[in-house]
Amino acid sequence: MNTTAEAIAVKPSNRTADDLVQDQSTATTVGEITSPNPRMRCREVNVWYDANHAIKNVSLDIGQNEVISMIGPSGCGKSTFLRCLNRMNDTIPAARVDGSIRLDDQEIQDNSIDVVPLRARVGMVFQKPNPFPKSIYENIAYGPRIHGLTNSRAELDELVHTSLQRAGLWNEVKDRIDAPGTSLSGGQQQRLCIARTLSVSPEVILMDEPCSALDPIATAIIEELIDELRQQYTIAIVTHSMQQAARVSQRTAYFHLGDLVEVGKTDVIFNRPQHKLTEDYITGRFG
Ligand SMILES: Nc1ncnc2c1ncn2[C@@H]1O[C@H](COP(=O)(O)OP(=O)(O)O)[C@@H](O)[C@H]1O
Ligand SMILES: [Mg+2]
Repeated sequence: MNTTAEAIAVKPSNRTADDLVQDQSTATTVGEITSPNPRMRCREVNVWYDANHAIKNVSLDIGQNEVISMIGPSGCGKSTFLRCLNRMNDTIPAARVDGSIRLDDQEIQDNSIDVVPLRARVGMVFQKPNPFPKSIYENIAYGPRIHGLTNSRAELDELVHTSLQRAGLWNEVKDRIDAPGTSLSGGQQQRLCIARTLSVSPEVILMDEPCSALDPIATAIIEELIDELRQQYTIAIVTHSMQQAARVSQRTAYFHLGDLVEVGKTDVIFNRPQHKLTEDYITGRFG
């Protein structure tokens, strides 16, 4: 994990006004929106909820084997942007999305895209763990079954096993695999939801404040898991905790009123932000 976590307790020091982008206009994102090895490429993405312009012309790459965190004050559009990445805004009637969002070479905004396999490739973990009202086993087996990923009960058993193992939950549940998913603790339920996402072979995993309902110990376990999963997956996480962003992510994107104000390496964002709005937020003057 990163060592920036402690560093962010220290306010950026010795910065003069001249070092910062003061311009309140956020029409252009400060920092590096591109990634050397992009999995997802968003260009000029806009989202409206009826007349509310919630995401304004956001362009951003999300790179392979990288954790990118999305931070910013409540209501700035973090969840809205995350939902663009697997077409979850389709489920909100008032939402309208335009711009280009590519997963590898595929434009996911195309009407011809089937969102069911898309959402397996780009999985999502929510703020509140939401296991199905089914057994631990069935929570994991459900996705592979509907996507036809296995050919026999033995293969399905194996996939349930490996998914739970990857999510760091197997040892805790192997003797109670038929117990209801809801009988697990909050942190275990969240790992169950992560295992469920992993079971359908995602490439990208989106997490919207995945630890905000969890205690510090459960949070630490999930953060360690995120760090491990990075080896194999591309991860975008929304968090309201700057410490968490510093601990788990390599890149950080700062949103403000629907604008992507600044994006860059996590330690740079927290220690040497270039935009005044970013500095105000990370030093606690705003938010
Ligand atoms: N389902 C929705 N319907 C209508 N407006 C929404 C919906 N979700 C979010 N919004 C609006 O979009 C803006 C961004 O919200 P959101 O993406 O939830 O921000 P964040 O996750 O950063 O708190 C806010 O103005 C919010 O009121
Ligand atoms: Mg949100």
